[in-house]
Amino acid sequence: MFTSASTLLLSAVVLSSGYILWTKIRIWSAASKADCSSPVKYRHLDPFYGLDLFIRKIKHTQAGNLLALDEEIFAKYGKTFGNEPTNRKPCGPLLGDGAFTVDGALWKRSRDIINPIFSRSQVSQLSSLKTHFQRFIEHIPTNGSTIDIQPLTKMLFLDSSTEFIFGKSAGSLSPSELTIGARQFSEAFDDGLRGMRKNYMTGQFSWLIGTDKKWLEKCAEIHTIVDGYIEEEIEHQKHIKELGLSSSDTSEPSAYKYVLLRELVKKHSDDKLYIRNELMNVFFAARDSVGTVTASMLFLLARYPKVWQKLRKEVAGIVPLQELTFEFLKSLKYVQAVIEETLRLVHPVDRSWKTCLSSCVLPRGGGKSGRDPILLQPGDQIELIYGCMHKDKDIWGEDASEFVPERMLGLKHSWQYIPFMGGRRTCPGQQNAYTDMAFFLVKLAQEFKTIENRDDCLEYVEEYVMTKQSANGVKIAFTRN
Ligand code: HEM
Repeated sequence: MFTSASTLLLSAVVLSSGYILWTKIRIWSAASKADCSSPVKYRHLDPFYGLDLFIRKIKHTQAGNLLALDEEIFAKYGKTFGNEPTNRKPCGPLLGDGAFTVDGALWKRSRDIINPIFSRSQVSQLSSLKTHFQRFIEHIPTNGSTIDIQPLTKMLFLDSSTEFIFGKSAGSLSPSELTIGARQFSEAFDDGLRGMRKNYMTGQFSWLIGTDKKWLEKCAEIHTIVDGYIEEEIEHQKHIKELGLSSSDTSEPSAYKYVLLRELVKKHSDDKLYIRNELMNVFFAARDSVGTVTASMLFLLARYPKVWQKLRKEVAGIVPLQELTFEFLKSLKYVQAVIEETLRLVHPVDRSWKTCLSSCVLPRGGGKSGRDPILLQPGDQIELIYGCMHKDKDIWGEDASEFVPERMLGLKHSWQYIPFMGGRRTCPGQQNAYTDMAFFLVKLAQEFKTIENRDDCLEYVEEYVMTKQSANGVKIAFTRN
């Protein structure tokens, strides 16, 4: 009895060791065939869980300079290394399966559906932004006193994104219109994001903390609110059909011609969970991204008055009756350069995590020099930190950390500049974001002669919720024309 059990155990050990050895040989042989080297490894004090790096990351995040730690590591170890969790696990309970969280066929289905809605909306959205911008301007003091503009730009783009996604604005810039439901949704979503951020931060150690029941309850609360919006839209469309009308015949509550919720309900009213997941994924990506980038743009413009004056010169050339269309805004070269340069210096996310799905070779990152190819195997995880790449002196020159929009004029972008990522997974909201930010800049430049910095701290101190924002806010003052 004892002998047969030990024979069984021995065979299991021999077989699994054989399998591990065989896998290693296979990978090693594929790597040497493709001329690949291993990436240089971080020298952990804790070789098992890498807790030392984890603790350093937390400390730097709290001090508002996480990118500085990344830059230090890149300088020491070269420019490619990784190992971070992917999106589905940390985001799943809140966002469900949608464009941001899934791969493969599910992801393709999602992008096939949302891409056309995004491209149609780009040319029709500015009338709605105009109304929100008007409310935004009313909050700016006319006597040159200091204002923290960051919360306001976040509210502006929260109002316009909720209108594009759900068909009704969050109304945060006009408290009289702010419904209890909209406020409850906004506050619950903030809590939802905090929980997701915690999941990302704890990553492989999440089992130490266990299930966050309060967070799961928050996710359920958010889902109930969104399900209510979906039901309402389904009923609305049913009603229109019964009356034999088309949606353009009815008075829609939103100024947007294309509203994501409405378009999704038109085609998928039988799959409410799918609609909710899609809405959650897009809302998560849109929520604070444009608002925080716009605040960062003002942070930089207040510190570089010559850039503001040059931008105003371009805007002054716009004839009075010119409509600010998608195409026209795209033609304003300096305005576009200011947006691109802002995204290079202060990105709302800074990084992205990818997991290898099938064996592939990365052209750089291996060996001591970091210039050899690396072979990746399914399951390998990569962290791309474009926040560092966008400030890399090897790419951008010695003045890489300066705000110089001129460098963007006439520059053809490649994989060295990817604020919206690239390839098939590129951000579907990219053109919408550019258009909104260009519209915002033009309107602001028509309104104000100067933007003055009113913060003693000239540095950008990072603060992360899910997107990155300035920990000190953006304290500035405007002078009107
Ligand atoms: C300045 C503003 C924005 C920036 C810098 C930005 C950047 C990005 C980046 C870098 C990704 C890729 C993330 C990754 O692969 O890990 C992404 C994905 C995405 N973005 Fe944006 N984004 C912005 C605004 C928006 C807006 C306004 C929307 C929607 C209205 C949006 C919707 C999405 C969606 C749905 C994805 C997931 C795409 C996929 O994985 O297929 N984004 N964005």
